[in-house]
Amino acid sequence: MAIAIMCSGGDSAGMNPAIKTFVERALVHDEKPYLIYDGLEGLIDNKISLASYQDVSNIVHRGGTILRSSRSKRFFEYKYRKIAYENLQTLGIDKLVVLGGDGSFRAMGQFYEDFRVNFVGVPSTIDNDIFGTDYCLGVDTALNVIRVSIDQIRDTASSFRRAFVIETMGRDCGYLALVSSVTSGAEVCIIPELKYDLKSLGNRLKSQIENGRIYALCIVSEGAKVTDKVAKWIEEDVGMQARVTILGHTQRGGNPTVYDRLMAFKFSRMAVDKLLSDDKSHEVIVFKDSKFEFVSIEYINSGKYQIEPELLTLADRMVQ
Ligand code: F6P
Repeated sequence: MAIAIMCSGGDSAGMNPAIKTFVERALVHDEKPYLIYDGLEGLIDNKISLASYQDVSNIVHRGGTILRSSRSKRFFEYKYRKIAYENLQTLGIDKLVVLGGDGSFRAMGQFYEDFRVNFVGVPSTIDNDIFGTDYCLGVDTALNVIRVSIDQIRDTASSFRRAFVIETMGRDCGYLALVSSVTSGAEVCIIPELKYDLKSLGNRLKSQIENGRIYALCIVSEGAKVTDKVAKWIEEDVGMQARVTILGHTQRGGNPTVYDRLMAFKFSRMAVDKLLSDDKSHEVIVFKDSKFEFVSIEYINSGKYQIEPELLTLADRMVQ
């Protein structure tokens, strides 16, 4: 029997080092490593091929994923999951490593219930919003991409006496905006997890402007859905010219950082070893309280990720 790897959902930096490690580790174990292209869509359409060292050379430093990814609607239907299962059976693949986010893990939980295909999920999303893990592959690179953008915006903001409202990704989760605000010394941080008070923020900013402040940075997560409202508030209430920058998909790109590469290596190696030593694996490998552990897919799919309360307190001065 053989082992395969695929990416599903939003791509994130670190996927390529994880794919490279997967192939190399499988070959060390004398296992046949297969690559599934185009995510769950490719699994249905049989875009699966046997990998060699050559397929994964020169990729460790590249962002995105050489396997490409997709968000599959068809996989929600049993008839397509059955086709996917039959494709795997034909090639003798009975173990999967899945790099993805919570949507992908729900899909894999269903796939396991249907056909008992063993898998290990590797939490991979820039949103860092998967229940049960403190870290998801790619978040460090995304945070560094955001940091560079904010540093660059600061150059022009300070040259022009302007406020910038910078919108980060993260879907419903404010993690990227929160960590970026704290580490960039922003003035305002608006995320779904925290109540904010524009009146008191406005008073504070006005008094700082009177005392010499010449620019301001407001980081707003896309999930808060108030980017334009915040820009209007700055212009009309605070009295500073404002510009909006939506960082968008730039945050999904970039060469993986050293940290994401190292974590990719560890996650992927442990995932392969687990699948080869346990023929009933349907788990996700998580990094919790600075330790790696395997947790059941049922557990991962049972809760909603919450940002650590201690981390949230770091934004105190940026919400009121
Ligand atoms: O989940 C990753 C993410 O980049 C989110 O932050 C964002 O809301 C979403 O994907 C964007 O999705 P798409 O790439 O399909 O537009």
